[in-house]
Amino acid sequence: MKYHHPSKELFIRNRKLFSDQLKPSSAAIFHSSDIYPIHADRFHKFQQQSDIYYLTGIDQEETILVLTPDHPDPSFREILFIRSLDPQVVIWEGEKLSIEKAESISGVSKIYNLNNYEIVLKELLYYVTNIYFNFNEYAKFFSDIEDRNSRKAREVMNKYPTHSFERSAPILHQLRMVKTREEIEIIKKACEITEKSFRHLLNAVKPEMMEYQVEAELEYVFKYNGATGSAYEPIVAGGENACSLHYIKNDKELKDGQLLLLDMGAEYGNYASDMSRTIPVNGRFTKRQKECYNAVLDVFKKACQKFTIGNTLKGINEYVNDLMQEACIKLGLFSEEDLKNQEEDYKLLQKYYMHKVSHHIGLNVHDVFDPNAKFEAGMVLTCEPGIYIKEEGIGIRIENDILVTLDGPVDLMANIPIEVEEIESLMNSSI
Ligand code: GLY
Ligand code: MN
Ligand code: MN
Repeated sequence: MKYHHPSKELFIRNRKLFSDQLKPSSAAIFHSSDIYPIHADRFHKFQQQSDIYYLTGIDQEETILVLTPDHPDPSFREILFIRSLDPQVVIWEGEKLSIEKAESISGVSKIYNLNNYEIVLKELLYYVTNIYFNFNEYAKFFSDIEDRNSRKAREVMNKYPTHSFERSAPILHQLRMVKTREEIEIIKKACEITEKSFRHLLNAVKPEMMEYQVEAELEYVFKYNGATGSAYEPIVAGGENACSLHYIKNDKELKDGQLLLLDMGAEYGNYASDMSRTIPVNGRFTKRQKECYNAVLDVFKKACQKFTIGNTLKGINEYVNDLMQEACIKLGLFSEEDLKNQEEDYKLLQKYYMHKVSHHIGLNVHDVFDPNAKFEAGMVLTCEPGIYIKEEGIGIRIENDILVTLDGPVDLMANIPIEVEEIESLMNSSI
């Protein structure tokens, strides 16, 4: 087994917290992700839908979870449907979960073979008025491709038109924002693997390397240390490539004198880490690069202190926008006078700093969240200010993952080199 599985108590707890928030007389249905086709006989690699994972710990395709917390027979209140152990499937694809294994992972005691789903569902729905469906309600995400939860929901809506339909997503967004101790330990492990990989790169990066070669090095260290791989497509961006925020082509040569922006995070046990560092390709920052880097680092350090109970994403963003505006003035990018004359607030800043400073992190790198939620102990968020001065070929972002606690913010990446002197010294030491 590649990673240490969380205990089934975590998933039992998650289902209970979710079920407690359903209206009386309800069922909730959750599906695994599809395995998406590419072309001919190829498929993308399976990646579990994060909500069904959160509720069951089951990392297998075609799994279905149905919760009916008020069912008159208590043994029917949680039911899991899994693929059968067809010997032909085992020959081609390897082991699938047995009923006993699925039970020991999830803590669900009633587990059926998938081919019983339609008939059992009909029996379950007879006893309820409301059906909760799990549509993807992540804000600002749109796709032409319908996911399995939506497709199956529409089928059920057609078959059972006299039931009422409800939304699981708002409940799950609230629950998933606050991590348990066990989840935090897994995220820490993902951060540790990211650290190993970054330290390796400090020794490996040299002028004339290709960006994709750096990507290969970082992925190697991730996988070698038990990570599934990257939690998202890594950004390996030399010079002005770093000014394209989602640059993932990673196909250019790194030049002597350039900066290299690395936005990289290992995924471990289904949980993401997310780190950005900016290093000089030749191991030494120029005076101007150092000036810009330290300006961002100063904002980063101040912003990290703001991940305190009761603060909000909006509060942190406003605070950082003001700091970044001052930093831009000090760096000579615009003047106080220019600010007074700008058409709208932060218009000038947007040329050099155009993204937000934080997002929740967890089973997804941009984890599900409520934008207006106040910070609570157990939330894990990134802190990631940056500056992008395309005309100077400079793109800098510094990003760590921060845990909110009752005693203040805890930087889960505090051990990862970040100071100019530390980075230069490690890049110039041979091990
Ligand atoms: N790696 C994506 C982000 O920093 O949000
Ligand atoms: Mn991030
Ligand atoms: Mn990132």
